[in-house]
Order: sequence, then C-alpha cells, then structure tokens
Amino acid sequence: MRSLFIAASLLIATTTVAQTAAQKKATFINNLMKQMTLDEKIGQLNLVTPGGAVTGSVVSSDVEAKLKKGQVGGLFGIDGPAKIRQAQEIAVKESRLHIPLIFGLDVIHGHKTVFPIPLGLSASWDMALIERSARIAANEATADGLNWTFSPMVDISRDPRWGRISEGNGEDPYLGSQIAKAMVKGYQGDDLSKNNTLLACVKHFALYGGAEGGRDYNTVDMSKVRMYNEYLPPYKAAVEAGVGTVMSSFNVIDGVPATGNKWLLTDLLRKQWGFKGMVVSDYTSVNEMSNHGVGDLQAVSAQSLNAGLEMDMVGEGFLTTLKKSLKEGKVTLAQIETACRHILEAKYDLGLFDDPYRYCSEDRAKNEILSAANRAEARMIAARTFVLLKNEKQLLPLKKNGTIAVVGPLADSRRNMLGTWSVAGQHDKSVTVLEGIKASAGSTNVLYAKGANLSDDPVFAKKINVFGTEIEIDKRSPDEMIKEALEAASKSDVIVAVVGEAADMTGEASSMASLDIQPSQKKLLHALKATGKPIVMVLYTGRPLTLNWEAANMDAILNVWFGGTEGGNAVGDVLFGAYNPSGKLSASFPYSVGQIPVYHSMLNTGRPYNNEEFSKFKSNYLDIPNQPLFPFGFGLSYTKFEYSAVSLSASSLKIGGTIKATVTVKNTGSFDGEEVVQLYLRDVVGSISRPMRELKGFQKIFLKAGESKEVTFIIHSNDLKFYNSALQFVNETGDYELFIGTNSAETQKAAFKLTN
Ligand code: BGC
Repeated sequence: MRSLFIAASLLIATTTVAQTAAQKKATFINNLMKQMTLDEKIGQLNLVTPGGAVTGSVVSSDVEAKLKKGQVGGLFGIDGPAKIRQAQEIAVKESRLHIPLIFGLDVIHGHKTVFPIPLGLSASWDMALIERSARIAANEATADGLNWTFSPMVDISRDPRWGRISEGNGEDPYLGSQIAKAMVKGYQGDDLSKNNTLLACVKHFALYGGAEGGRDYNTVDMSKVRMYNEYLPPYKAAVEAGVGTVMSSFNVIDGVPATGNKWLLTDLLRKQWGFKGMVVSDYTSVNEMSNHGVGDLQAVSAQSLNAGLEMDMVGEGFLTTLKKSLKEGKVTLAQIETACRHILEAKYDLGLFDDPYRYCSEDRAKNEILSAANRAEARMIAARTFVLLKNEKQLLPLKKNGTIAVVGPLADSRRNMLGTWSVAGQHDKSVTVLEGIKASAGSTNVLYAKGANLSDDPVFAKKINVFGTEIEIDKRSPDEMIKEALEAASKSDVIVAVVGEAADMTGEASSMASLDIQPSQKKLLHALKATGKPIVMVLYTGRPLTLNWEAANMDAILNVWFGGTEGGNAVGDVLFGAYNPSGKLSASFPYSVGQIPVYHSMLNTGRPYNNEEFSKFKSNYLDIPNQPLFPFGFGLSYTKFEYSAVSLSASSLKIGGTIKATVTVKNTGSFDGEEVVQLYLRDVVGSISRPMRELKGFQKIFLKAGESKEVTFIIHSNDLKFYNSALQFVNETGDYELFIGTNSAETQKAAFKLTN
C-alpha cells in the first residue's frame, strides 16, 4: 500500500515537473510572439542559404540585410563555428527581437568524418552501428556550429535508375523503418538541448523514391494500399521515434504537389500520426509548384501554408506573398502563427534561447571533428557495409604474399571515395583503395595502373564534374592505359580491379537509363579477363547495377558502395581477411533494366512463373528471367552458414498472442563471421492480394568457425497486420507461411494459422 502511494506521488511529481517544463516553454513562446509583428512572424518561416553547398539554381540574396530586419528564421549551407557565430551575432544583436537562428546542413552520412553512403549503411543491417554513425555525425556537426540536419532520407526506392536510391535504405519498408528509428535516435539522442545533439529532419515526405522512369523530380502515382503498406512506414517510424522536423518532397501525390498537399501534411502527418514538430519545404519546392501548373507564387505559397507547410526553403514565396494573402483572406493569421510557433519551439528545444552560441565552440571543432577515434569507427563501420557478391574458389581473402596488380580508375582516386552528399566532407582527408591495400598487404608486392578512365566521354564527364573533377580523362589514350594495366597484370598473381561509378553518378539529379559499368571500364575488364589471371572486382557504386557479364566472368566481386573517409582502409581490411564481410543487399540488383521494378515483396500474379520450363501465357519475359541477378538480402561470407529446418512453438497464433520460430545456424567454414538471419512472412489468403514475401525480422549474429547458435524470432500477431482496401490496419485470420534464411530467395519454410 505504502509503496503504491510512493509510486503514485512520484508519478504526480514527475508529471508536474514535465508540465512545468512544457508550460514554461509555452509561456516563453507566447510572450515572445506577443511582441512580434506580422512581418517578424512571417520572417521566421523563411529559410535561406548564403550559398556554399546548394542544390538549386536560386541562392538567397541580401542575407545580411534580411537577418537584421528579422526576415530570416534559419540559415543553411554553411558550417564552421566562426562563420555561424558571425551570422548568429547579426540575428541576435542586430534584429529587433534578438531571435536566434537555427542552422541546418545536409549531414547525410557523416559530417567531416564521412561514413558509407546510406544505401551502404543499410547493407550492414546493423542498427547499433547505424545509430552510432548518426551519433558521431551529430557530435561533429554540432561541434561545427550546426544544430539541424536534413536527414534521415527514408524514401523507399525500387528503381536504381533513380540516383537518389544511394541516399536511402533500399526497397524494403521494414528494414527502412528500423533504420529510420536508429538514425533519429542517433542524431537527436535523448535530449535535444544538449550541445552535441542535432535536430533531425525526415525526408522527403512523401513517396519521392517512386518517381516514374527513375527520373528525378518526376511524377509519382500509386495506390493508397501500396502507399500505406510499402512506402509510408519508414516516415511514420521516424515520426514515432520523435523526429523534430519533416521535409516535404518535390513530387506530386494524387496530382497535388506534396509541398502543398493538405491530405499529406495535415490529415495524415498531423491528424493520423500525431506529428508535433515543424514541416519545411524542399529547396524551392514551393515555387516549383508553379511549374507543376497549380498557380502563381502567391497562390502556391498560400496553398502550401494551408496544407500545413511551415518553413519555406530558399524560395521566399512565404516572405513575399503571405501578408497579401492574409489581407485577401486566402490564409489565416492562426496558420501563420502556428507555423511560427513550431519554428520557435524547435529553437527553444535546441536551447538556443538560453545560449544562441552553444554550438559555436572552436575548441570542440578542433578536437572532436575528424578525430582519430571517429576515423577508426568509420573504418570499422565501412567494412561492415561491404557485400561480397561472388567468391569463386575462395579467392578472397587474399594471401599476403606474391604480387597483386591493383588497377582501375577508382583505385587511386581520392576525389571519389566519399560518395554523393558529403557536403562538408574533406576529400583530401580520405584514404584511397591503393593506400588501404598497401597498408594491409604485408609483404605482398603491389603494382598499380589506372587502366581506364571512369568514362571516356567528355560530355558525360562534364555533367558529373559539377562539384569537382570526379571523372578525369587521362592524357594517354584508352589503349595505352589498358596496355599499362596488362603489363602490371602479367607480373602479378592476382588482379584487383577497382571499378564502378564516380561519386556523383548517383545522388540528386543523377538518374541513369543504363545501369551497366561504363564502356571504358568494361573494355578494361574484358582485356584483364583475357589474361586468364584471377580477378577480384572491387565495385564502387551508389545504386544496384546490372552486372551479368561481371558475375559470369569475374572470380570475386566485392561491392563496397562508397565507403567514406576510411573506405580505402576498410577495403584493405576485407580483402586481406582482417574482417570477414557480412553485408547484405537492401535493394535487389536487377538482371536487366527492363526488369525494373524488381523487388522481393512482389505480389503473385494470376499466372505465376517460377523458372520452370517455358510455357506460353505465363507472367514472364521472353529474353530474361523474372528473378533479379542478386536478390534482396543477398551477401556472401568467407565462411559458410548452414540453416536447420524451422521449428515453430505452435501450429497456430491467436490474435493478440505470439508465436516463436527457431532455427539453428551453424558456421561450417573455417572463418569466424557474422550472418544476418532473415525472417519473411506470407499471408497466403487475404482480402487483397498480399506480397509473396515480406521481411518481418532479422538478427545479425556472430559465429566462430564451427560454432552453432539457436536463433529465435518472436512474432506478435500485430506483425501480421496490414492496411486493407479501406485503409484499416487489420489482422486477417487464415494461413501464413514463414521463411527464415540467409537471403530473400534461400530460406527454410514453415506454416501456421492465425486464429481469433
Ligand atoms: C534536396 C534535399 C536537401 C536540400 C537542401 C534539395 O535539393 O532534395 O534533400 O536537403 O536540397 O540542401
């Protein structure tokens, strides 16, 4: 009785403290807003960039004058405590109400210590590691003056033609949701007011990865059932994890641009999901609604505010038209005030009203950015994202003796190591593959030849080199370069060919119709193949590529994405066996571009075709298989893992209850290693057609050579829920199949019933 009483009074005490904190914040903001003029309120909704890292053709003008007039709520695209302090001082000392600015930047996969691109990080299937990468990024970014990142990007994409697939977590909503949560937690920590936590921004809301033809910024059109079941879950997961801000996307949804889409930004985000933070537009996405054909700047700005958009990135539609729209009754004062309040609340939560300079410490910047400790973690993390796609006759790991020829345009290219969206990354601080190999090779004799240009086409190179020279066309002719590579190969026992994409062949506005390795590099690979020497292909890519010839002709393929600052060292670690690769694809590698979209959770058709002998009138292609070349979840190890049959704790699962599925995984090879054990489910009969497989769980386990482990998944009936045609999130009783295995195509099966 007494302990109950104590517990109850404790509860009351904590609630009172919490209320007091919330009330204190409300009182502070109410008081501030009472002093603000309409212009100052609208000013808070304006997000500007003085240049630096920008992604649009428009850059804000007269930034300093606007800061003084209170016409700016936040600034993005700059970093460094000195620069940020300078801008903050103008806002705090020279504007009428001294309201501090919020400072944002695209801190996407690390700040100055750059981690692998997000698609690579997702291939680690290791949530603790991903969270850690975001934590380090937050620590470095806040040491560099920033307090807001435009990350995580959680757009599901099943179209590798789309360059931004590199910035996301691949094709699967379950994996994507786990990563969304891990990233938000990593950035925001448990208390935004600490000086090393960063306000996160989930983007691009919503469905941006579904662009038709994989062409960036293009139309998206999909059913609500698909939206709710497959594309929306990661954004929702980020909201549930407490993400502070949301960025609207460039695309239309049901014909209405996301930035001005009331159903999306108000009905779904706020009313259904209960989002309480602030919504920012993408770069000039308010203005771009005019190109979508829905009105002039005043009309689209009013539409966006009405829809629930609160901060206008760069375009200044809000700044220049909202007052007029208010006079004309096209928007309300309450809408402007709500938007302003959410922005001030974000600043309050960050502690900026207590100390506007709390993120501007030269000491922290000096000691905490690109530190040896951060680099060591980046190296460890990068190695865990690499995916071993082929390893014929155990060519890898390489022996530390004899001679190896390291060839290819990416072998010694510092400029390409960081990958896309590393706006604060310092290319000159990155480790090349050649350096990494030499550092790991022991007494091995290492020869090097470039062998080929990334591309021989100067017109193409110019498009890629917008941010710096990533594709450098050599003075020597392609034939001379190949000759040099062949000479190195002839003196070697094994060839390591480092080929693939330049860093900015993926990322924003980097769509590609062909997913083949560039012709210049193909030619090199063909010439190397003709030598008969064993070849390890180290593949740099920001997207799934079509690799049929390579898969048939290379002896080993290690896909290393873009590994970041320490990527080169991590490649050395994996090639020579200091780390046994454990990455698994988070997006299927198509057999051919004509297959796109190809993904593991497809629906069955009425005329299924499963690789049996050809017969007419089946759902197939005449010229290619239905299956991707490398399926979702695929990735080899230097060792071998054997799976037992699956055993279930019962033959049925009651709604509200759980069922246990168990397998034993044995490491039967001779290396210690990590394995991602994957769980898929299939709802055999439903009120709507249901995917043939849906990822519902995974565990990354470590097994010493010869060791076995029992792996158990506990499945709750809630894990079987889905959105039906009426968009109700329901359980439907009936037959289910369960699959556990090493990738989405190689699994052990069991079956159970879901009952009332
Ligand atoms: C991109 C966003 C990015 C923003 C600010 C836009 O072009 O779509 O992802 O956060 O620019 O740099």
